[in-house]
Amino acid sequence: MKKLLKIIGIGLLAIVVLIGLGLLYIGMSDIPSYEVATIDYQVESTPESIERGKKLATMLCANCHMNKETRSLTGVRMLDAPPEFGDIYSANITQDKTYCIGEWTDGELVYLLRTGIKRDGQYSPPYMAKLPTIADEDINAIIAFLRSDDPMVAAKAVPDTPSNPSLLTKVLCRVAFKPFPMPTAKIELPNSTNTVALGKYLAHNLDCFSCHSADFKTNDFLNPELSKGYFGGGNKPLDLEGRVMLTSNLTPDKETGIGNWTQNDFIRAVKYGLKDGEHALSYPMTPYTQLTDNEAAAIFDYLQTIPPIHNKVERSVYE
Ligand code: HEC
Ligand code: HEC
Repeated sequence: MKKLLKIIGIGLLAIVVLIGLGLLYIGMSDIPSYEVATIDYQVESTPESIERGKKLATMLCANCHMNKETRSLTGVRMLDAPPEFGDIYSANITQDKTYCIGEWTDGELVYLLRTGIKRDGQYSPPYMAKLPTIADEDINAIIAFLRSDDPMVAAKAVPDTPSNPSLLTKVLCRVAFKPFPMPTAKIELPNSTNTVALGKYLAHNLDCFSCHSADFKTNDFLNPELSKGYFGGGNKPLDLEGRVMLTSNLTPDKETGIGNWTQNDFIRAVKYGLKDGEHALSYPMTPYTQLTDNEAAAIFDYLQTIPPIHNKVERSVYE
């Protein structure tokens, strides 16, 4: 009996030591790398695509990459990244050839934005956005803008500060966070005369669902509608002081969602952060001033068609 216990004890000890060694190995190694598929892609640049790309990049990239001092996309320390992810800096994505993305090919940019795999093969953890379901035309527009002569992306030789991802991030990048597949068929823009289809496209691809569903961990980025608590709110993004900002329920539930809102209430809230008789909406719900009233109204129309979820979320208000 004693001998058996001893054997079990040694066995357990061996397991603990192996786990410890595994963590030590992961901690000392980098975020995992993957094979980079060569994408033969040449951006198509027109004044219209650059303008559309600027609008999209302002809503989808600037919140993380805009540096207030350089007034361009040279990268910043991300104060709202959860501290357990480590010390995270976004990159300089202006056109400088040494420090930025001047040397990247259009194909490498598409591949990163679709899958999350950088040109050197390293996976970019969830604190860098990915666009697995956006239309080909919109990806093209974003790249056309990144290559344009707009001051936001003009070459600025500001070196990147490398992020210092935590052990947790490294472990998660081995077990949970994986690159998205490169789409095999063309992804079309929705028919813009179908308001509900347009609203759905925007609600998914401007990332509204990712903050406004139950939790980042249970979001389904390839099939947003399958995310847990789809648009029912209660997710916990952080503000710039690292405080939790609970997200609102945007389902048509009349009591706890926006079932009693008018289209106009919604447009004012989304584009200008305004709510009658209440504090203005705060970070990370930044005003989407680039949206046209029609686009904001389309998101509202779509949200009124999804299943209501009864989930009361109190606003996080800090003085
Ligand atoms: C939620 C914050 C966030 C958003 C939104 C975001 N990024 Fe990033 N991005 C990052 C971070 C952080 C890194 C650095 C990643 C790393 O350390 O692996 C990064 C890295 C990159 C890189 C790699 C640069 C290099 O030199 O390695 C490119 C290119 C890039 N982002 C482009 C974009 C574009 C284009 C958009 C908009 C469509 C965007 N990002 C949106 C946070 C973000
Ligand atoms: C980065 C996370 C994030 C993203 C992305 C985001 N939101 Fe929000 N949103 C929030 C938070 C947090 C609040 C609550 C802010 C507050 O209480 O001041 C909020 C509040 C709102 C409200 C007010 C609802 C109410 O009941 O007061 C509306 C409407 C809204 N968001 C719509 C949208 C739409 C539409 C999009 C996409 C275009 C979007 N949000 C993208 C985080 C986000």
